Amino acid sequence: ILKYSRLVIFYLMEDWTEKYRPESLDEIVGNERAVTELKRWADAWNRGNPKKHAVILSGSPGTGKTSSALALAKDYGWPAIELNTSDARNATKIKKVATFGAINETFDNNGSFVSSHKGGRKLIVLDEADNLYEKIKDNGKNDMSDKGGKRAIIDTIKITKQPIILIVNDYYNLIKGSGENLKRTCKLIKFYNPYPNSIFGLLKRICISEGITADLKALKTISDRCKGDIRSAVNDLQSICLDKKQLDMQSLNALGYRDKNKIIFDALRDIFKTRDIQNIKESVSNLDEDPNSV
Ligand SMILES: Nc1ncnc2c1ncn2[C@@H]1O[C@H](COP(=O)(O)OP(=O)(O)OP(=O)(O)O)[C@@H](O)[C@H]1O
Ligand SMILES: [Mg+2]
Repeated sequence: ILKYSRLVIFYLMEDWTEKYRPESLDEIVGNERAVTELKRWADAWNRGNPKKHAVILSGSPGTGKTSSALALAKDYGWPAIELNTSDARNATKIKKVATFGAINETFDNNGSFVSSHKGGRKLIVLDEADNLYEKIKDNGKNDMSDKGGKRAIIDTIKITKQPIILIVNDYYNLIKGSGENLKRTCKLIKFYNPYPNSIFGLLKRICISEGITADLKALKTISDRCKGDIRSAVNDLQSICLDKKQLDMQSLNALGYRDKNKIIFDALRDIFKTRDIQNIKESVSNLDEDPNSV
């Protein structure tokens, strides 16, 4: 454990990607157009006449899709209800939440009914919807991925009384097969990889807030290297700065270590964030390291 003490500190610290997750759409870095389109769609819901009941946010990992959905919910004062689409059994739950009247009732995060005198609009967020219901497959007999899953979602979108956001990495995977109708029923909002310059600005703000003196060239390098993945840029910054308040080009060498042993960071992340022993075993066995030294 000594060998990896830096990593352990890293995972005991507050995760900067959470600490600096945008609270409002105004804080989303890059993707101005996507943000504007999201706001327009939400405004139409508020006026009661949205052209499309649902939007699909598509784009690469770490570009701000989930953050934007949650920020929208905050900005508009709509409680976000995140429902898992990987299990076909949730189709009924989603439909129930989506079609319930907007006034006087609300649901908690699991879709259970919660009485509320306030009520109001709820934002239904179907995150990581790439493989709608694909987990239900018993020996190929019961493949819900195409039969039930996508169709159920499409039907729900048609009749929903609540705004729905679907989030995917791969739009084409979503709309293939019986997902074709999603093209017509949803508004597509694409997230592009933000420019290094925008990411640079965010990293600089984080450094200021953390009291870190940074060589701007080093920040520029991190922004370039992450290839538009803001999550990994912020993670890199935190992993370099975890035991110092000074960031120079030399400290980037620690990142080379991360590149080489990138998997160990990811595995430790899994280990610290999971309670599922099988996942832990898998994470460790996927490592290019002796499990005993981990
Ligand atoms: N556009 C952004 N502006 C500000 N911070 C961002 C942005 N995108 C990502 N981040 C940072 O990265 C973290 C992860 O972002 P987010 O969860 O929104 O990515 P995502 O696009 O949903 O990725 P994935 O496809 O992997 O789910 C955020 O908590 C935030 O710290
Ligand atoms: Mg996400």
